Amino acid sequence: MNDNLFKKAVEILTANDRGGYTVPTAGLYPFQWNWDSAFVALGFAAFDQNRAWREVETLFEAQWDDGFLPHIIFHVDDPGYFPGPSVWRTQKTPATSGITQPPVAASIVHALWEAGGRDNHDRLAAIYPKLLAWHRWFHRYRDPLGKGLVLATHPWETGRDNSPEWDAPSAVIDTSQVEPYERRDLVLVNHEMRPSKDDYDRYLAILQFGRDHQWDHALIAEKGPFRMIDVGMTMILLRANRDLLSIAQALGREKDCEELRKQIKLSEKGISYLWDGELGAFCSRDIISGRSSGIITSASFLNFYAGVGDALQRASLITNLDRISARVRYLLPSTDPDFKKFNSILYWRGPIWAVINQMVASGLSEQGYQSYAQRIADDTCALVKKSGFYEAYCPLTGVGTGGAEFSWTAAIWLHLSAQDRGGKSFVKGAA
Ligand code: DGY
Repeated sequence: MNDNLFKKAVEILTANDRGGYTVPTAGLYPFQWNWDSAFVALGFAAFDQNRAWREVETLFEAQWDDGFLPHIIFHVDDPGYFPGPSVWRTQKTPATSGITQPPVAASIVHALWEAGGRDNHDRLAAIYPKLLAWHRWFHRYRDPLGKGLVLATHPWETGRDNSPEWDAPSAVIDTSQVEPYERRDLVLVNHEMRPSKDDYDRYLAILQFGRDHQWDHALIAEKGPFRMIDVGMTMILLRANRDLLSIAQALGREKDCEELRKQIKLSEKGISYLWDGELGAFCSRDIISGRSSGIITSASFLNFYAGVGDALQRASLITNLDRISARVRYLLPSTDPDFKKFNSILYWRGPIWAVINQMVASGLSEQGYQSYAQRIADDTCALVKKSGFYEAYCPLTGVGTGGAEFSWTAAIWLHLSAQDRGGKSFVKGAA
C-alpha cells in the first residue's frame, strides 16, 4: 500500500471530523449519516481505535426510544443541505431524519472489537443492547411478510438512492402535493451525476407521507407509497445478525443468542423470495405489485457476504459476474451494464462504490471465491490510485464521480491498508 495515500486518507477523515462524528464529505453531505459513519469507524480503526469506537457511539446517541436509528443526525444545522431538519420535522433532539439506513453497524462493531484484539469489553457491552434494539426494530417494523427480510420505505433507506430498481415502483407515486423546494446538491456536483427532478419529487412525496403520519413506522410500513423488500438491506441485516450473535455469545447473553439464531434461520429460509429465476440472481421485490425489480445490481452479490444461496444460485451469480466483468474495466458496477438504463456516471446507475466492493469482496473471500474477491479488492485500490478518494467511480474509465475527498472511500482504503500491514479485519484475505 502507498504511504502517501494512507496519509491522504487520514487527512480526509481528520478534515471531515466534526468532533465525535464525521461528515461523508464537506458541502454535499454536511451531517452524520448512519451507514457512512459505520464504515468511517472501520477506517479510523486503522490508526485510532478510540476515535473509531467514538464514531459509532455518537451515532447511537441519536437512537430513538423504540430502537430506530435514523439515517441522518443533524447535530448542527446547515442551510447548504436539502432536505434539512425543518423539512423532516421528527421533533427529536438532536434533530434527525425519519427513515433509517442499511444496518451495517453491528458488523462494524464486531470488526472493531476483533481489530482491538477482543479488548474493549466495556465498550462492547455498552453498545450491544443498542445494536440489538435496532435489529429488533427491523424485525418488528420492517418484516411485513414474516420471512426475515427487510422492507425499505424510501429509496434513501437502501443507501442506493437512485438505483433503477426503484424506477417502476416510484413511477406510480403521486407527486402532486409536493411542496415547492430548492435542491442544493446541484450547485455542488455535476447534475449529470445526480438524481433527476422526477426522482427528487418522489423522494419528497414519500418523505411528506411519513411526516404527515408523525413518523409512525408501523403505519408507514403498512400504507406508505414505497414498499420494497431491498436485497441490499436484507443481506446486510442477515450478516449483521450473524455478527451480533457472535457478540452476544462473547457477552454470555444466552437468551438473545436463541432469538438471533431463530431470526437468522428465518432469513436463510425467506431469502428465496428475492430470487429472480429469470435473471438467476437475488433482486429486490416490490410488495405492492409482488414483482421482482428484474435488475441485477451490485447488491445482488451481497448474498456471499450474508452467507446464503445454494450451489446452483451461487454458480448462477458467478456466471453473471463473469458476464459483467467482461463489459467493464473495473468491478463492481452498481447496475448491470447490460441493463438499458445503465449509465456509467449517474448516481447508483453504474458507478462503483468502495463500500459495496468491500462487502462483496469480503463475502466472496469467505465463501471461497478468492480470485473474484482479489479482483474486486485490487480494482478498488486501482481506482483510488488513479482518481483519488471520490464518492464513486466510473466502471469504464475509472474517473471519480459525485463528491470528492469522501470519508467512506478513505476509510475503505485505510481498512485495506491495515490489512496489508497484518491488521485484523473483516475482509478476510481479500486485499
Ligand atoms: C442525499 O441527500 O442525496 C442523500 O443520499 C439522502 O440520504
